[in-house]
Amino acid sequence: MSTKIKLMSLVGARPQFIKLAPLVKAIEVFNEGSSSTQVDHYIIHTGQHYDHGMSDIFFDELEIPHPDINLGVGSGPHGVQTGKMLEGIEKILMDEKPDMLVIFGDTNSTIAGALAAAKLHIPIAHIEAGLRSFNRKMPEEVNRIMSDHVSDLLLAPTPTAIANLKNEGLESRTISSGDIMYDTVMLNSKLAEKKSTILEKLNLEKGSYAIATCHRAENTNDPQRLTHIMNSFNKIATEHLPVVFPMHPRTKHILPNVLPDWKAAENLIILEPLGYLDMVQLIGGAKMALTDSGGLQKEAFFLECPCVTMRDETEWTETVEAGGNIITGADPEKIMNAVQHWEKMTAQGHTFTEKLQETFGEGKSADITIIEIIKFLESKEMIPA
Ligand code: UD1
Repeated sequence: MSTKIKLMSLVGARPQFIKLAPLVKAIEVFNEGSSSTQVDHYIIHTGQHYDHGMSDIFFDELEIPHPDINLGVGSGPHGVQTGKMLEGIEKILMDEKPDMLVIFGDTNSTIAGALAAAKLHIPIAHIEAGLRSFNRKMPEEVNRIMSDHVSDLLLAPTPTAIANLKNEGLESRTISSGDIMYDTVMLNSKLAEKKSTILEKLNLEKGSYAIATCHRAENTNDPQRLTHIMNSFNKIATEHLPVVFPMHPRTKHILPNVLPDWKAAENLIILEPLGYLDMVQLIGGAKMALTDSGGLQKEAFFLECPCVTMRDETEWTETVEAGGNIITGADPEKIMNAVQHWEKMTAQGHTFTEKLQETFGEGKSADITIIEIIKFLESKEMIPA
C-alpha cells in the first residue's frame, strides 16, 4: 500500500503560474516512479491576477491543471487584498488539511498563504526563498522576509539567496534548489520557437529590437520615475531600435492619469500582456531587455539577452556580476548609457552565461523540490521513511 501526501500549491499572480508549471510536471514524474508514496496535488488560485492574459493563458500554454479553488479576490489596496486572501485561504486549509502548503515568490498571495498556514501549524515550503533587495519600501521585500521566516522549507535558487538566509539565521531550513524559472525556460524555449508566431506578427527580425516591461509600484506610482522611463522608451525606439512593450495592467491604468499627453513613438510597439511562449520567443530574439521585473531579468540571463534593469537595486546580483545586467534606476542618462553599452557589446559578440548553471542550477529545481518535500515530511514523521 502506498502512502498518500496531500500537497497544496498556492498561486495568484502571473510569475507564480510560471513557477508552478515545472512543479506540476515533476509531481507527475515522481508519482509515476514511486510505488511507496503518491502526491495528491491541489492548486489554489487567489485570483490576484484574473484577466485571461494575466492568468488563464498560462494555465493553458503551460498545461497546468485548472485550479481546484479560485478565491476570486481581485485587486485592491494591499491590506484589503491580503486580508481577503487570508480569510479564504484559512478556510480552505482548515477544510482540506494539507500535509504541506507550497508558496511561490514574493506577492501578496505568498504572504497571505504563509500567514494562514503558519497559524494553523501547517508546514510551508517556500519556492524562491532568500531573495533580498534590502529595500523595505518594496511590498515584495516585506512579503519575502515575512514568508521566509514562517516557512519550514526554504528552497533557495542562488548562492546569494542561500547567504541571505544564513545571515538571517535560517540556514537549517535552507535547501539549495536551483531556480525553478530556469526549469520553465528549459522546458518551453524549444516549444516557443516552434509555436510562437510573434516575430512574424510584429514583422521583426531576431536581434533587431528590444523587449521592455515596466510594472513595479516604485516606478508606476512615482510620476517622475514613470515619466523618465516612458520617455526613455520613446527615445530608444526613435534613436536606436524598435522597442516591444507588452504593458502590464497596472501601468496601463496609471499612465493616462500621470502622463495624459504622452504618446508612444512610432517604433515603440505597445502590446497587451503576452503569453509565456510569445514572451520567451521575444526575449530569446531580443538584442536587449529593459525591465523592472525580477523574472524578466532572469529569463533574459538564461537566454543570453543583455538586460537593463530600471530599479535602484536587484535581488539577482549574479546577473550583474556575470556581465549580463546593468542597474540604472529610472535615470534617463543611465538608461541611455546602458543601451549604448549593450549596442556596442552585442556587436562584439559579448557572452555572459558561462556560470549560468553554477548559479541557477541545472533546470532540475522542481525535481529537487519534490524530493526535499518528501524528505521533510519523512523527517517530521508525517509519512513513513
Ligand atoms: C504583483 C506582485 C509582484 C509581481 C507582479 C507580476 C504583489 C505585491 N506584487 O504585482 O510581485 O511581480 O504581480 O505581474 O503581490 N490587474 C488587471 N488584470 C489582472 C491583474 C491585475 O487589470 O489580471 C490590474 C489591477 O486592477 C491593478 C493592477 O493591475 O490595478 C495591479 O495588480 P496587483 O494585483 O496589485 O499586482 P501587480 O501589480 O501585478
